[in-house]
Amino acid sequence: MVSPVIKLNSGYDMPQVGFGLWKVDNAVASDVVYNAIKVGYRLFDGACDYGNEVECGKGVARAIAEGIVKREELFIVSKLWNTFHEGHQVEPIVKKQLADWGLEYFDLYLIHFPVALKYVDPAVRYPPGWHYEGDKVIRSNASIQETWTAFESLVEKKLTKSIGISNFQSQLIYDLLRYAKIPPATLQIEHHPFLVQQELLNLCKAEGITVTAYSSFGPASFLEFDMQHAVKLTPLMEDSTIKSIAAKYNKDPSQVLLRWATQRGLAVIPKTTRVELMTANLKHTEFDLSEEDIAAITAFNRGIRFNQPSNYFPTELLWIFG
Ligand SMILES: NC(=O)c1ccc[n+]([C@@H]2O[C@H](COP(=O)([O-])OP(=O)(O)OC[C@H]3O[C@@H](n4cnc5c(N)ncnc54)[C@H](OP(=O)(O)O)[C@@H]3O)[C@@H](O)[C@H]2O)c1
Repeated sequence: MVSPVIKLNSGYDMPQVGFGLWKVDNAVASDVVYNAIKVGYRLFDGACDYGNEVECGKGVARAIAEGIVKREELFIVSKLWNTFHEGHQVEPIVKKQLADWGLEYFDLYLIHFPVALKYVDPAVRYPPGWHYEGDKVIRSNASIQETWTAFESLVEKKLTKSIGISNFQSQLIYDLLRYAKIPPATLQIEHHPFLVQQELLNLCKAEGITVTAYSSFGPASFLEFDMQHAVKLTPLMEDSTIKSIAAKYNKDPSQVLLRWATQRGLAVIPKTTRVELMTANLKHTEFDLSEEDIAAITAFNRGIRFNQPSNYFPTELLWIFG
């Protein structure tokens, strides 16, 4: 395997470098996954909300059929969307997502966001998105404890090997740890030099929860939404400090950004549809940054978050990271 692995608290090995599937168009998703497997990726980070699980599953099936990889060598991650948090909704939707992928089990299944929204029947709209109808965001009363208890039964039923959380902050993790019979194996969070969240990382380290960084390139992923605070920033890959560190090691700025995360023990899941960039992203662990260079990148921290609902639609509807 090209990527190093991290031993999860569930006992399973997880590739430290995986492949992100958000915004991979349906038209190309099957080929992108197939090509990424050929390049050497073994972890794929999917979700109901990405709307491309059927196509991603086809890429996996093709690679398995051609003998490039075996199912047990892959590490497939998916996520529960907010509209399926009620305990009795969890298992049916996991089974639908597994059928979409053409798989019998996930390696890791995450609560995508710590917010429960009113149930939407998949026959009516799938993926359901944030809005119930029109611009209405309607919450449901499901607690995280109810959802997590249902997650624990997914492990018992062998529908997923490990379970985890995403977009949680410390207070809610402390609460979850009080009642969890199975602790979360991973926490997936937005993490890049503009958003370090060191105390959250400290908590996860102390509790044995592996952290996966998403949107490692910071604003790069959010320019297409025309987010003004993303557009106004100097792109991290064009920043003079990042570029000069990259030049020193004869690496790409993108590899420096990923190495800053993996050298500090995090997993990463960069996304690209360009085959020529897949290898560089995957192989970025083949060098080490000095402690001074790591500190210089950490010093970029400004607490700037891009991936929050209030950046996508009017703020009077939902504030998850308040
Ligand atoms: N849990 C959550 O709520 C959550 C939220 C966001 C993301 N995620 C997960 O994390 C994954 C990664 O995050 P992300 O997709 O937001 O962003 P990302 O991986 O940080 O950045 C993707 C952007 O960077 C470009 N890019 C990738 N590699 C590059 C390279 N070597 N050089 C130059 N440009 C490069 C891509 O362009 P091209 O595609 O055009 O190459 C794309 O525009 C997602 O795909 C998803 O699986 C999870």
